[in-house]
Amino acid sequence: MSPFPVHIRVPATTANLGPGFDVLGMALGLWNEIHVERAANLRIGIEGEGAALLPRDERNLVYRAMLRLAQHAKRSLPPLHLRLYNRIPLQAGLGSSSAAIVGGLTAAAHVLGITLPPEEMLRLAVEIEGHPDNVAPALYKGLVAVTLDEEGPLVIRFPLPDDMRVVIVLPDVRVSTERARALLPSHVPHGDAVFNVARAVFVVHALSRGDYPLLSRVMVDRLHVPYRKGLIPSFDRVVREARKAGAAAVTISGSGPALAAFAPAQHQHIAEAMVRAFQEAGVTARSWILPVVSE
Ligand code: HSE
Repeated sequence: MSPFPVHIRVPATTANLGPGFDVLGMALGLWNEIHVERAANLRIGIEGEGAALLPRDERNLVYRAMLRLAQHAKRSLPPLHLRLYNRIPLQAGLGSSSAAIVGGLTAAAHVLGITLPPEEMLRLAVEIEGHPDNVAPALYKGLVAVTLDEEGPLVIRFPLPDDMRVVIVLPDVRVSTERARALLPSHVPHGDAVFNVARAVFVVHALSRGDYPLLSRVMVDRLHVPYRKGLIPSFDRVVREARKAGAAAVTISGSGPALAAFAPAQHQHIAEAMVRAFQEAGVTARSWILPVVSE
């Protein structure tokens, strides 16, 4: 039976979650969609975020991930027409590359009628572009802790409260992950490492329980935010305004420049306060209030 048309969707992700640098990530309800049909030759159409920038040939990341899965399965793909509907902004810190990779792998698995265990998908995805803390939540959903050892990826998935919403505010400045990583020191004081280990554990507990008073005390980081915040105009002021408007915690989403704010209520008010604070610094910003994705 023909698998066509194949239609899949992949969520945005917010990585790090403050102190969980390179380990924690969460799936957010902002979806890229991939529609695949058979065609005479490869055709790639792109709408939405990045439509003017992303390649529409074999260099396209979704297509490259599809090829990688086919190669892994020792199969070949038929000529395809891909239609990509992108809602996840590029270079925002919201996992757009990971979504492209996870989407491509998943779409290819559907086209070829094969099912791979999620750990295998994760391994392939990390191999294509190694940010497991974005890739893992895009694949597993929910709140995810991930690490890699010689045997491969280790993943734990934690449930999240169904009604959890996250405010995402994206200032109109360019920050590539490479640049944001280049700012990180090669060594950190032992005390900072201990500080983060403790807080990362508490952040997982606070998020999975929806315990905002605890989250406001523990979503604090010493391994990346202090080094990266200079890339985000008026960072301290925007965080202050978000807190005044009711945010329990605010941190950089992934490597930025998007910020993620967590609160039990007042999401719209927080988003507006953050956008206004950016505007007062002369920077336009977009905002979303996104549900977490648990399934
Ligand atoms: N953990 C990675 C970083 C995520 O912060 O560099 C990249 O989106």
